[in-house]
Amino acid sequence: MGLAWAAGVALGTFASSTYFLSRKPRSPDSISESEENKATAQILEQIDRQFTITPSKLQEIFHYFIKEMERGLTPEGSSMKMIPAFLKSIASGSEMGSFLALDLGGTNFRVVRVLLEGQGRIRTNQKKFVVSDELKTGDGEKLFDFFADCVSEFMKEFSMDVKETYSLGFTFSFPVKQLSISSGLLMEWTKGFSASGVVGKDIVKIIEASFQKKGLKIKVTALVNDTVGTMIAETYKDANCVAGVILGTGTNAAYIEKVSSITKWEGEDKTGDMVINMEWGGFDDHKKVLPVTSYDLELDNSSINRGAQIYEKMISGMYLGEITRLAVADLVRKKLLFGGKISTKFETRYKFETEYMSRIERDHSSDLNDTKSVLEDIMEIPFTSLQDRRIVKRICEVVAIRAARLSAIGIAGITSKIGRLHGCTIAIDGSVFERYPHFSNRMRDAFVELFGMQADNIRMVLTGDGSGVGAGLIAAIASKTQ
Ligand code: GLC
Repeated sequence: MGLAWAAGVALGTFASSTYFLSRKPRSPDSISESEENKATAQILEQIDRQFTITPSKLQEIFHYFIKEMERGLTPEGSSMKMIPAFLKSIASGSEMGSFLALDLGGTNFRVVRVLLEGQGRIRTNQKKFVVSDELKTGDGEKLFDFFADCVSEFMKEFSMDVKETYSLGFTFSFPVKQLSISSGLLMEWTKGFSASGVVGKDIVKIIEASFQKKGLKIKVTALVNDTVGTMIAETYKDANCVAGVILGTGTNAAYIEKVSSITKWEGEDKTGDMVINMEWGGFDDHKKVLPVTSYDLELDNSSINRGAQIYEKMISGMYLGEITRLAVADLVRKKLLFGGKISTKFETRYKFETEYMSRIERDHSSDLNDTKSVLEDIMEIPFTSLQDRRIVKRICEVVAIRAARLSAIGIAGITSKIGRLHGCTIAIDGSVFERYPHFSNRMRDAFVELFGMQADNIRMVLTGDGSGVGAGLIAAIASKTQ
């Protein structure tokens, strides 16, 4: 069965395509090649059609996003939790002192010592620990005991006196219902965590109990989300910063809102500003406007938080590789790729990492050599043709472009809602934003589609180590006000 025929049968008939991968003059010898190109073009068109967010769709999602933000601030609530972070003041740049910070993001756990020297100057020491899947999904108490062990090891390594009392800021990057700046209940786990006995409990009490068991005199003075930490770290240097965004293993944002707009806020003081942890990963969990494909549904169905965090599952690093894997595996099953042959590794969930997509997108060689090495050497696909590799590369592109455009919608939603289109800084952290090729340019393209020339007024800055430094800073701000 010819490839062109198979493609026609499996995908239906399409209008003429814009993808011409080879422009050699037509000769009897090149007929089969041109047939193959036609088939490839049809496959690519089908893939494109599923993943493309057109300018009008972009507008539609953008308007719905703002509505959901607004609804989330009312007692009615919305798909985004829009959690008040109990933080009213941002960093002034003059905070000083030495603080400890913990950072549990997704893949790693970090202990950081933050030395604030004033005038925006900061020094840090830090140590990273890997949280095993066993700890992530096992007994909650063991997970927090592990964190206390890490702190103890860190203090020894940096010769810190364990008898002294330290203030600590804990960046805990999961949905937490804040009760105060230094207490909060875990609402649900995300990003592959499911440790037992933690949901519904106060995270600070759990970690302080583990510290006590190890004889550590540590007082948690701030419990913060990574988005909040990232924003605060940037405000230490730039007073124009209005939001913090994470585009990494997971995705989320925090921003500064007027208390008077938060109608669900029951606190006495209704004046001034309040930092909001949006938990935007939950945006449109009912799939009203998000352009979900069959691959997104498949990913969601087999995830441990089925039906939740759909927006996050279309954007963040934990999932992009998996969406791509599912799309590629589908084409192999339809015998449109790799001669219909796949490997056990490629068929295994989450084995195709987002990092491989970055490598493939960076591969500009004429025969896509590095793509070949990812597919054949790492993913153990027995054989790939150049056409195969072009198709895989295009799938990576469309999946990542969609992710970039969706994340741009979130930032556009914030800046537009708070009326800062005339100028603002957005602090961003996370491996996808930092390392995925073209990600920020693709976001910019979406800003331009939404705002025209005003798009230039949105300044995105990579705020490395927002979670560590930010938690230390908030611990400093909190100790001033407590
Ligand atoms: C997940 C968490 C959220 C966090 C984000 C980025 O979406 O629920 O709290 O900010 O990941 O790490």
